[in-house]
Order: sequence, then C-alpha cells, then structure tokens
Amino acid sequence: MREQIRPARALSGAIQLPGDKSISHRYGMLAAIAEGVSKIENYSSGADCQSTLACMQALGARVEKHDGFVTIGGRGLDGLREPASMLDAGNSGSTIRMLSGILAAQPFITRIGGDESLSRRPMERIMKPLAEMGAGIEARENRFPPLTIRGTKLHPIEYTLPVASAQVKSCVLLAGLFAEGRTTVHEPVRTRDHTELALREFGADVEVQRKSITVTGRAYMKARDLRVPGDLSAAAFFLVAALIVAESNVTIHSVGLNPTRSALLDFLAEMGAAIKVLDIKQTGGELIGDVSIKKSRIRGGLLEKARTAALIDEIPVLAILGAASEDGLIVRDAAELRVKETDRIQTIADNFQRMGLTIEIHPDGFLVPGRQLFHAAELDSFGDHRIAMAFSIAALAADGPCIIAGAEAASVSFPEFFDTLHRVTE
Ligand code: S3P
Repeated sequence: MREQIRPARALSGAIQLPGDKSISHRYGMLAAIAEGVSKIENYSSGADCQSTLACMQALGARVEKHDGFVTIGGRGLDGLREPASMLDAGNSGSTIRMLSGILAAQPFITRIGGDESLSRRPMERIMKPLAEMGAGIEARENRFPPLTIRGTKLHPIEYTLPVASAQVKSCVLLAGLFAEGRTTVHEPVRTRDHTELALREFGADVEVQRKSITVTGRAYMKARDLRVPGDLSAAAFFLVAALIVAESNVTIHSVGLNPTRSALLDFLAEMGAAIKVLDIKQTGGELIGDVSIKKSRIRGGLLEKARTAALIDEIPVLAILGAASEDGLIVRDAAELRVKETDRIQTIADNFQRMGLTIEIHPDGFLVPGRQLFHAAELDSFGDHRIAMAFSIAALAADGPCIIAGAEAASVSFPEFFDTLHRVTE
C-alpha cells in the first residue's frame, strides 16, 4: 500500500490510541494460563497482539473478540494443550520471545515461527536461560526462528541479562512462574516492568529490588477484568508531529504513563516541549493520564545509556524531531536498534537520504544535525511499522507531498494510524 502524506499546516484535536502493545501481549498470555474468564478492554488492535491471541487460542484458550474488548477463557497453569500445527508469531518479537517461556514448561513439543523479518531476529538471548532451566530448544542456525521447544518440568534459576531486554526478562519470569521455587532476573538497566505488574494482577508473587526481580513459581493464577492503557509509543508519533508542525495543539487521552516508559515525556520536556499531563489514574497497577502538547521551540538532545534503552522504540521518530530541532540529536548505546523489525539505524538513514537530510551513522547510534529542511520524497517502510509511522510524521513537515511505500506495515501496532493522522491534520 502506498500512502500519500501532504504537508500539514496544523495538528489539532483529541486522539484515542490503541491499547498498549506491550501490555496487551502480557494480558493475553497471562489470561490464557489463569483460571476462569478474563475480560480485557482496549486490547491492542495491532497485528502483533492478534498473533499472541491466535497462539493462545491454538494452545487451547477460548478467545472471543467483541467491540472494544476481548474475553479469554484461561486453562490454568497446567491446562494448555499441544497445538495442532506450528504457532505463528507473525512479525512479533514479543510473542515469540515471551511465549517461549511458557512453552518451555509444557509437557509437549511446540514449533513457533513467524514472518521473514522475525525469522532474522536473534533468539539465543532466550534460548540460553530456558536451556539452563531445563528446556530443550532448537533454532535455525542455532539462533533464528522457527524454534522447536521441548517443554519439561523447569527448575528455577538466577539469571543476569547480558542485554537490556524486557522481552528476555519476561520470558524468564514467565518460565519461572511454572518452576517450583524462586526465579530471579538481574537487569543491567531497568526495562519496562509490565510483566511484573501484570503477574501480580493475575495473582503471582513478584518481588522487585532495584534491578532484580524474583517470581515465585506455581502461583494460583486467577482471571481478571482489566483495561489496557493507550499506547505511549504510538502517542510518540503524534507528540513529535505536534512539535514539528506549526500551530499544533493536541490532547491524547488515557495513555499509559508507566514510569519505565514515560522517560519519553521527560526527554521531550527537557528539549523544550510544552507538555501537560492531566487526570492521572491507576488501572491494573499501571498509571494512565491525558497528555496535551503544543508546538514548541525544540533545542537539541543526547540519548545514551539507560535512557536509550528506555526510549528504544521511540528513536525513529525522535530522529525526525532531531533534524527539525535547533541543535540536533545524538543517539548512543543503541546497537539493539540493529536487531529490531529492521536494522533501524540503516532504515532511518535510508529515508533521511531520500528526504535530503543529513545523518551520520555509527554501529550503535547516530548524529543528526538540527535545523534541516525536509524535502518531499518517496519513502519506504521497509516493512517496519515504526519506520512507516515515523516517516509519515516527517512527511508532514516536507516541502511537498510524500509517498510512504509499504504503509500497511503500520497495522502491526496501529491499524488506525493513517485514519487518525488524516483526522487531526489540516
Ligand atoms: C518490548 C520490549 C522491547 C521493545 C518491544 C516491546 C516488550 O524489546 O523494543 O517493542 O513488550 O517487552 P526488547 O526486549 O528486545 O528490548
């Protein structure tokens, strides 16, 4: 699909976002291994989270989709059944990596794979701890999907993550839920803690001490009614759009403000963004609120260390903000960007070049000078949802209409993205 985006004069109005992608995956998986029927409101409409539901259904959970909510009939910790065929995680790294933790504990063999992009993403990071816990896992070339997982009775471990990854942390904690005893994960930097919060909601015992998380296995997991907050990573596209398009003023409702995700708002505010957060509430252990933002003068910024990890999904759109800012953006410690849905350092650089924008790339980051002019161009998603959406935002500030080739990739996390964008832009 080729989407045309015209330069925008202003962005205004109220925006509702799909349910948070990370939280939806976790609720989908945990509801399936809880006892009873969970009702999950605002479950993400994105294809990735639908892949999780389809996998849980193939494992025996009863999934029903309704307008605005899904119900998931869970089978309890010991009730999943062997799927009839290979599980399909689609484009979703979260699905294959987190679900593997559950599959490793089942009394059957499962095969799980996904699309071309997923089939190039590294899996050693989950294979190593799961093997330590006793599971047998085989992968293509010992590290790529599809995976063949021989589940077994797992034993608890203490594991130090070699890379900061919430997916790997979650995989080990989910496996630990099935093991007799206490499983502990030590993180190099604190990553998103949705798994810890969701595990507690469904009844598991989780202790957090700074960067160490311990789950006690064999908890009684009970169905819950929960509401998924709006996705802050989806909000990022509209926040940046409002900052680079003149006369903008938008409000984003009921967006997730979990402190392990909201570094985005602090970073934007430090760069000079006029942001207000109103009506903060708690739901299912997660903070939510309304965020309003106005066009502001944006200085430059530096992203490194723990902050890079906290903003890893937002970096494509922040690169665009950097080019429009006064002093530019430097990103360091972001080698993980190279193993996302695409090599995002490369796909950002390719689209920058098409728009006549300067970027200096490094193995683990990049430097974007500020005050650059965005030239109209044909841009490409390269099949990556965040690249499709980030460069649609860049197109709003271009000197003529742009084309986004492969725009359908946006539906991996945000199928309503283009409708929402067209509705709020003039
Ligand atoms: C996610 C963790 C991050 C992030 C991804 C979602 C999660 O991946 O990039 O979009 O839901 O746990 P890593 O764990 O690979 O850093």
